[in-house]
Amino acid sequence: MKRITIAIDGYSSCGKSTISKALAKRLNYSYVDTGAMYRAVALYFLRENGSFHKNPFVAGLELTEADKRHLIEMLPDIHISFVALPDGQHTFLNGEDVEAEIRTLIVGNMASQVSTIREVRKYLVAEQQAMGKEGGIVMDGRDIGTVVFPNAELKLFLTASPAVRAQRRYEELLEKRTNSIKKGETAGDEPKYEDVLKDVEERDYRDTHRKESPLKRADDAVVVDNSNMTREEQMEVIQQIVEERIK
Ligand code: DC
Repeated sequence: MKRITIAIDGYSSCGKSTISKALAKRLNYSYVDTGAMYRAVALYFLRENGSFHKNPFVAGLELTEADKRHLIEMLPDIHISFVALPDGQHTFLNGEDVEAEIRTLIVGNMASQVSTIREVRKYLVAEQQAMGKEGGIVMDGRDIGTVVFPNAELKLFLTASPAVRAQRRYEELLEKRTNSIKKGETAGDEPKYEDVLKDVEERDYRDTHRKESPLKRADDAVVVDNSNMTREEQMEVIQQIVEERIK
């Protein structure tokens, strides 16, 4: 059977990575989470800058023009890879497992900022194209169907309302916090739904309005709005689309 390239784009927190991972597993394809790559670059920058802190619920910190120049200079020192571990795929930054750190709010917010820099995108897009050149891949992000693989055999564009996405993200953060408390780790303040919603809206705005490769549905992408779907229902819908396309 043909091993195709599946490009999955969409807004933040609309469940792209969950569905992409599940799909890759079913098809026995590899999976690349390109958001994790922008997050790893952001983490590298925050650490270099001495601004990374573990309180996962604090966002903020605006990149200055000088920061941007500094980051561009550092790009050749940033090497990102993915390793399959028993609990799933982890992101590695220069050989270090950074999967937990890159999922914090501060890193997500910074990732959205570093992703507006042309040089950063160029650097990561080249890596993504190399990772997917053999096909048999599910890649998710914001510009996969438009820039990274404009000739992908299947393009999906996932969407859900901001309120639904913020609620899902809020519940995830609460659960993470409860788990940290159970393990006796520093958990930080309790997240507030309003903050999470604000963050989702800010990121949507930035992702769709930036000059470089803004988030945009490819003309030939199939739109899946999962606001009122369970994960299982969504998987069902997507599985059908994939099967038709592979045939
Ligand atoms: O999907 P995510 O939340 O992990 O992505 C983090 C940030 O990276 C997000 O704000 C947008 C950016 N991003 C991007 O610009 N292009 C991609 N292909 C993937 C993510």
